[in-house]
Amino acid sequence: MGAGIDLAATVFDTCVFVPGDQYIDSVSYRCSACGYRTVKWMGFCPQCRADEALVESDERSPGLIPEPVALTKVGDGADLRKLTGLGELDRVLGGGLVAGSTILIGGEPGVGKSTLLLQVAGALAAGGGRVLIGTAEESAQQLGMRAERLGVRHDDVLVLAEDDLDYILAAAVKIRPDLLVIDSIQTVRLSTADGAAGGPTQVREGAARLLRFAKEHQVATVLVGHVTKDGLIAGPKLVEHMVDVVLSLEGDPDHGLRALRSLKNRFGATHVVGMFDMRGNGLAEVKDPSRVFLAGWQNNVAGTVVFPAVEGRRSILVEVQALAVNSPLPQPRRSVRGVEPSRIHQMLAVLHRHAGMKTDNLDIYVNVVGGWRIEEPASDLAVALALASSITGEPLGSTAAWGEVGLAGEIRPVPFDLRRREEVERVGIERLVTASKDGNRDLATALLRLGMR
Ligand code: TYD
Ligand code: MG
Repeated sequence: MGAGIDLAATVFDTCVFVPGDQYIDSVSYRCSACGYRTVKWMGFCPQCRADEALVESDERSPGLIPEPVALTKVGDGADLRKLTGLGELDRVLGGGLVAGSTILIGGEPGVGKSTLLLQVAGALAAGGGRVLIGTAEESAQQLGMRAERLGVRHDDVLVLAEDDLDYILAAAVKIRPDLLVIDSIQTVRLSTADGAAGGPTQVREGAARLLRFAKEHQVATVLVGHVTKDGLIAGPKLVEHMVDVVLSLEGDPDHGLRALRSLKNRFGATHVVGMFDMRGNGLAEVKDPSRVFLAGWQNNVAGTVVFPAVEGRRSILVEVQALAVNSPLPQPRRSVRGVEPSRIHQMLAVLHRHAGMKTDNLDIYVNVVGGWRIEEPASDLAVALALASSITGEPLGSTAAWGEVGLAGEIRPVPFDLRRREEVERVGIERLVTASKDGNRDLATALLRLGMR
């Protein structure tokens, strides 16, 4: 024995179905150490491997038909929520941690996932909660040193440096934390699953085990996931659809700014973003990201313009930069950061066709400052203006732009116009270039009015 048992198969082995009646279930067993349930008696627990720990249980066996509930009797689960005390995170989560939920937090190595979670642990413990961090990435000493630097000093933040998930879960059953952190899902392993840690089978089964644990014991559980260069949560995209919440921590390694985005949230809105600044003593919440993004903005230089991005309920101003230079290469370079490259190619084609700006002998660089990633087509106009400005050498001055640019060169209005306008006006940007309201029905006209044609 020792291989994982298939619960469903076991249920059908031992349950008898009587037509028109119900499942007649046999006795069930429960592990006295970790609470694992099974309908088959064994000499050891397949979850925590405690010997002779399975005892007969009069609890409902897995074969019994469950009782549906009226939706009106369910409630909104507000009582299951717990604020972490880290305001930006609570906002992204839609009002704190939900007991029994699972959260995947992805990000590139070094972006600050472990740091953020240690700070969350500290904040929760300060509010009377208990946290268990199961880490297969760092030693307890390493974590201790980091906690010291972050000012996380609390007896209710517990660490288990261990890569065997069963042991971490057995400890969690004993400790009953409010939050369990698994750092990371790619480095822990299950002895009952095949393959090496980080492989698809290990990751999927590990995540499934954690989901079951979270629900059964009503513990909010966070899984750290490493992300590959192209932005996918490595290997197991599968984990994303299993968990309740998917968060992504992003940022330019050269800058301190970090954006925490919710990509999926069964308990709240998605595309909410929390902003942090990585400092010597950890991540600090950023209340006015627009000003931080624009801190180094030099608008008397050609090739730069502000784009008011919209994330969740707010607008954040980011700087879009473009540089066009003569290329020595037979196939000129196109280097893009922070915007979908296909949209850059489209803007170059539109500039060529509708504004007569030829770029096929130019190297083109486009960059969104601060490591921000724009996903809205609303950035088209800002990108096109930054490109046109660099191509013509005409600075745009204190200007913000938004609007989608179509293949015919038309500028289309985009959602959240008012929100963007208010944010731009708040920081005192002098000129706005947007769709029709300001007379800019197409890119060629807009460029003409800006003196770039
Ligand atoms: P970390 O949380 O270990 O990243 P991840 O878990 O996502 O891999 O963050 C590591 C980086 O953060 C490291 O390069 C050092 C930096 N850092 C700070 O700048 N200040 C701090 O207070 C801490 C703890 C880390
Ligand atoms: Mg880490």
